[in-house]
Amino acid sequence: MNTFTITSQKGGVGKTTLAINLAHAFARDGKRTLLIDSDPQGSVGLSLTRQARHLTGFHDYLKEEDLTASGIIVPTRLETLGLVTCGRRGDAAPGGELRPRVGRFLSEVTALEYEICIIDTATGLSGVTAEILNISTNVVIPQQAEPLGMRSLPKLLKSLTSVRRTNPGLHAPGAVLTMLNRDLPESRDSAADLRRLLPPEMVMRTEIPRDDIFVKASARGLPVGELQEGGEALAIFDQLRAELEKRMTPAKPSVKQTSV
Ligand SMILES: Nc1ncnc2c1ncn2[C@@H]1O[C@H](COP(=O)(O)OP(=O)(O)OP(=O)(O)O)[C@@H](O)[C@H]1O
Ligand SMILES: [Mg+2]
Repeated sequence: MNTFTITSQKGGVGKTTLAINLAHAFARDGKRTLLIDSDPQGSVGLSLTRQARHLTGFHDYLKEEDLTASGIIVPTRLETLGLVTCGRRGDAAPGGELRPRVGRFLSEVTALEYEICIIDTATGLSGVTAEILNISTNVVIPQQAEPLGMRSLPKLLKSLTSVRRTNPGLHAPGAVLTMLNRDLPESRDSAADLRRLLPPEMVMRTEIPRDDIFVKASARGLPVGELQEGGEALAIFDQLRAELEKRMTPAKPSVKQTSV
């Protein structure tokens, strides 16, 4: 199974939007996909199902030994897309027990024969996010195409270097430029700066434009592709999905768990 952890040092850069729409793109392409909300704010769940706050989810699993991954996966309108909400009980405290529990969750999901797992995270690389990164195969970093957005980049790269010490297999297919406004020189310049600062293999070619359709989609609790006027945005996420597929680490054969 390939895991994509969506993370950033800065808030409001489009992590959740990227996670939802990328998961939707993989699922529409026929891949068995699981979208996990590991952000205690619970934005993914709230966006896709209004009952999210009442559902048992990821942080509950981290705290309660007797929960199973299959018991907390919620079906969605797409047969190939499953959802795990953040849960009812808020943030699981970081500690010695957390890492094996996160590992257990992902091996249960692998045994359920999911091919792709997209994990939305809270801002910053500490706590539960650090544990997720320690066993992820890929990390994707939304980078807002604005001058302020670029300031967090050096800190993020430094943190990723330290994560790689414990997880040398963590692959960074690249930063994804989000909220790009081609009509605004400051936004265009920021995008150009990022491409100048990082080698081409570290910045995805696909760019996500600033478009009100993303705000409309999250207000209605849908991925953009589900809106009638969402065709263009859908094509962008399909392109991003195809680009990531080319760049991602080859998935290891899934190992079936015989005992839980
Ligand atoms: N490409 C875009 N164009 C316009 N608005 C966008 C775009 N992407 C996201 N937004 C909007 O920007 C806001 C922040 O996006 P989002 O919630 O995805 O960011 P985030 O990084 O997950 O935030 P947080 O740090 O709070 O978790 C939301 O209102 C969302 O609808
Ligand atoms: Mg978010």
